[in-house]
Amino acid sequence: MADYIATSTLNGEAILQKELAELGITESKPARGKVIFRASEEEACRAAYFCRTARKVLMPVRSFRFSSKEDFYEGASSVEWEEMMDISRTFAVRVKGEDAVLRNSAYSALLLKDAIVDRLRDKKGRRPDVDKEKPNTMVQAFLEKGRVSISLDLGGSLHKRGYRAESSPGSLNEALAASILKFCGYCGEEPFLDPMCGSGTIGIEAALIAGDIAPGLLWRYEKGFFSLPFIPADVKRTIPKMAKERVRRPAFSIAVSDIDGRAVRTSMNNAKRAGVAAFMKFREEDFFSLRPEDGGGLMVSNLPYGDHVESGTDLESFYRSVGDKLKRDFMGFRAGLLMGSAELQKSVGLYAFRKVSLYNGSKEVRLCLYELYEGSRKAGKGESRQRFS
Ligand SMILES: C[S@@+](CC[C@H](N)C(=O)[O-])C[C@H]1O[C@@H](n2cnc3c(N)ncnc32)[C@H](O)[C@@H]1O
Repeated sequence: MADYIATSTLNGEAILQKELAELGITESKPARGKVIFRASEEEACRAAYFCRTARKVLMPVRSFRFSSKEDFYEGASSVEWEEMMDISRTFAVRVKGEDAVLRNSAYSALLLKDAIVDRLRDKKGRRPDVDKEKPNTMVQAFLEKGRVSISLDLGGSLHKRGYRAESSPGSLNEALAASILKFCGYCGEEPFLDPMCGSGTIGIEAALIAGDIAPGLLWRYEKGFFSLPFIPADVKRTIPKMAKERVRRPAFSIAVSDIDGRAVRTSMNNAKRAGVAAFMKFREEDFFSLRPEDGGGLMVSNLPYGDHVESGTDLESFYRSVGDKLKRDFMGFRAGLLMGSAELQKSVGLYAFRKVSLYNGSKEVRLCLYELYEGSRKAGKGESRQRFS
């Protein structure tokens, strides 16, 4: 057992912790933008392969203080890289953070790369090649106040699953979309729709959840733990096997639509790349003329921030119309709306019983959760709230 780090979107730490627990990893502690967990090597690899809301899963290898660049180089070259890396595989180094001694992260990355390469050449007589685009092995370092923490990355940038060859403005990364769905309590057991789908990320993530398709099944080349020589071959074999056995056909509909035909085509192409297009319905339609086919379910949308609404329509009245439409035609649904600001939330004119601040890139956005019930309001209320995470 050892300590590992899974990084998350800010404020998504508890959701990630829950996901880890669902994988049987219960010893964990949230911190800002990450969850530190205690697990076996196999469990950590499984976390990298199965977690939807993690951005990275890291295996710490060495942490040390340094007071000069020579110190930094020495410390990095004292790591037994020859035990951890396969010289026939490509690698890349990424350094985040800066410090009084090492102010430039590109320079720090160069130093770390040199330390690894020099050590491997010394111990093995050969060095691995660097590939910045699609490295097999990734080494990640964080610098803070004279200390560096170096880790091996067990899965790479998990929030970029690779199916989004095309995206639209305001689009969400995949891990953020999955976190939003988890906040909404979505587990594929109800009809789902995103009527302002843009490049389709939320709907595609819903289909991956409903189909129990592990994000690792979308990895297109050997990376992360698959490239590490000390991870046992049976772990590398059984994790994908286990993931394949879990795949199922979603039992409920997953529909995405957008007023913009190009966005619908982009969604369809992205869904094809993710292997879930057959599970989804795509439609070019104005949200305001859409009638849901099901009597209830979950509707989640990343509402336009300003550049997507028809010219001449101001955002406040657009958001007000969204609220009115939900009240009129979406009774029986739960809704999760992602919006640009707290001001806009007021324009929706519905009671949001939960609000979460999240970040789409550097932009702070707000997820508001609603339940739309009439008649059986009282009975429905508690039942529905339990379904939101
Ligand atoms: C912020 S983007 C959604 C981004 C998306 N979640 C993604 O990850 O790519 C908002 C989308 O709302 C769409 N939209 C704007 N007004 C609409 C309307 N009346 N009906 C349906 N879609 C609309 C835009 O075309 C745009 O694609």
